[in-house]
Order: sequence, then C-alpha cells, then structure tokens
Amino acid sequence: MTDHAAPEQPTSCEGCALVPPRRAFFRDLGLAAMGALLMAGMPAELAAAFEPREVVALRRFGGDPSYPVPAADGVQIDKTNQVILVRWQNAVMAFNLSCPHQNTALRWTERKGEFTCPKHKSRYQPDGTFIAGRATRNMDRFSLTHVGTGIVVHVDAMHKSDDDKSGWASSVVRL
Ligand code: FES
Repeated sequence: MTDHAAPEQPTSCEGCALVPPRRAFFRDLGLAAMGALLMAGMPAELAAAFEPREVVALRRFGGDPSYPVPAADGVQIDKTNQVILVRWQNAVMAFNLSCPHQNTALRWTERKGEFTCPKHKSRYQPDGTFIAGRATRNMDRFSLTHVGTGIVVHVDAMHKSDDDKSGWASSVVRL
C-alpha cells in the first residue's frame, strides 16, 4: 500500500498577489483615519473640497440634489426632485413642491410675486410664509448647505413651521 501524503495546505495568504502587504494595509488605514479626523474639524465647505471623489460620487448617487447658487432673485421648480429653490433678498431657501394642506403641487405666480396652490387657493410669500387660504402653516422647507458655488438640498431633512419652528427658520443660506 502506497502512502499518499496530503497536499500541503497554505496557512496564510502571505505572498498572495491579491492581498496587499500588511504594512501597506496599516499605512492606508492610518492615513484614512488621519484624514477623517482632520475633516471632522473643518468647516463643511473645506471638508467637501478634500473628500475623495468616490465619497462625493456616492453622496450624489444617494440623492441629495444640488443646484448652482442662483445669480439673482427668482424661483426654480425642480419637478423631478419635488424641490422649489428660491433666492430672495440675498437668501436661498428650498421648499417641498407640495402644498402643506393637501399635497397639491404649488405654483409660482410671477406677476403677484407669490406662490399659490391651485386646489384651495392658499398663498405664500417667496420665503414660504403663509399669507391666506386653507393651509395652516408655511410652506415646508428643506435643510440646505452652501458648498462652493452650489447649494445642496437635503431632501431627507424637511422642516414644518408648526412643529419645528427653529428648524424651519434656520433652513436658509444667507449670501
Ligand atoms: S391643497 Fe393647497 S390649499 Fe389645499
């Protein structure tokens, strides 16, 4: 009877071309940790400039729409993202397109300089303040961030003026 020795099993991946050397792995890990610590203490605008391209791409993919800072007072309606972007009196604000009464899409009436709801005729100032109609609060605002020459609208952070007064009031970028 022949004695067949079992083939020798590798005990580690040392030397395997797909596994980075341990030293390089820990060096990269250390650099990433240092980068995260540095960015944590930076203003948001500066930190964004140092973000790796992959992180920026993921954030965009994640769904927060961004827009160039409007050059002059005016209203932009982004139906795809259900966002109204307003520049008014050197401030930028972003609103939910839906009327806070029963979710009808709001409209901008240029000649009156106000938002109107086609369903029950609620009216709002350009900063979203309720004027008249069946609604019981101002237009709903999104948090937003000024990044370089753009405005990022955080569509997951919506503020209703009746139950989140301070969040609503602070959702403004002053230019
Ligand atoms: S849905 Fe807008 S006022 Fe009723």
